[in-house]
Amino acid sequence: MSVEHIFSHRHILGLADLAPADIAFVLQTAESFKEISQRSIKKVPTLRGKTVINLFFEPSTRTRLSFEIAAKRMSADTFNISSAGSSAVKGETMVDTARNLAAMNPDCIIIRHSHSGAPELLARHIKASVINAGDGAHEHPSQALLDLMTVREHKGRIEGLKVAIIGDITHSRVAHSNIIGFTKMGAEVRVAGPATLIPPGIAAMGARHCATVREAVRDADVVMALRIQQERQLDPLLPSLREYAIFYGITPAVMALARPDAIIMHPGPINRGIELDPALADGSRSVILDQVTNGVAVRMALLYLIMGGAE
Ligand code: CP
Repeated sequence: MSVEHIFSHRHILGLADLAPADIAFVLQTAESFKEISQRSIKKVPTLRGKTVINLFFEPSTRTRLSFEIAAKRMSADTFNISSAGSSAVKGETMVDTARNLAAMNPDCIIIRHSHSGAPELLARHIKASVINAGDGAHEHPSQALLDLMTVREHKGRIEGLKVAIIGDITHSRVAHSNIIGFTKMGAEVRVAGPATLIPPGIAAMGARHCATVREAVRDADVVMALRIQQERQLDPLLPSLREYAIFYGITPAVMALARPDAIIMHPGPINRGIELDPALADGSRSVILDQVTNGVAVRMALLYLIMGGAE
């Protein structure tokens, strides 16, 4: 069913800013764009003449490349700049870097930064649209949108599903955006992980904190394992990765508690054998590569909607 909707957002800073109708509209738009990537000529003229800059201050494989592919498939001109190759290494502030990029009149800047709130700061200082490609432990909105799209594709709906998110919830921007997104769309979200990696306020976000992974996964329709983000832990918050794998790793025995048709998700990159058993990562219930495929479609939809294509 097609949804009529006016998408009025100029920036995509987090799913907290999007209404359920906005999310549904992005998913519907992404579903319609997915077919373009199946064609032999994978290009449409929709964003011809638009300029998109990827400004990545942290490493990325999936997000950066899929935003670039998405923009190129819509005929926008794309440029990549990373912190290592920019004047940030000479001491230039992020806002100064952004203002200089803005002086070249881009239409959209996609930013990944280790500091929560960096995309919002950027949006306050420049005229171009800003998309948050992951800021610190805050939000990763395009990841949650591609996760929602993947679940809807496999389950036919989101409302009423039981979604278990397992691992380092405190440091995971993916977990935060997914808790917001799945609860807004009517799913029941449960989280589990080491007590040191579960932030306060989970109930206020609409999710349920389960004492064990088994409790979270029981009867779940979707099981999402998260990467342990050692780079964001200021102090060691785990006794060892081996112990983490024993108590919190998703294994065939854990998955046996989920619904028989439950799907396994992971935002990547995977620490194989720690948060997820390699046989499950590569098995028939895994939709991990579908998430990556849908990432291109979701990012095409976001670029289209914020750069005036919807008009
Ligand atoms: N899921 C995700 O953000 O992956 P990258 O760090 O490779 O972009």
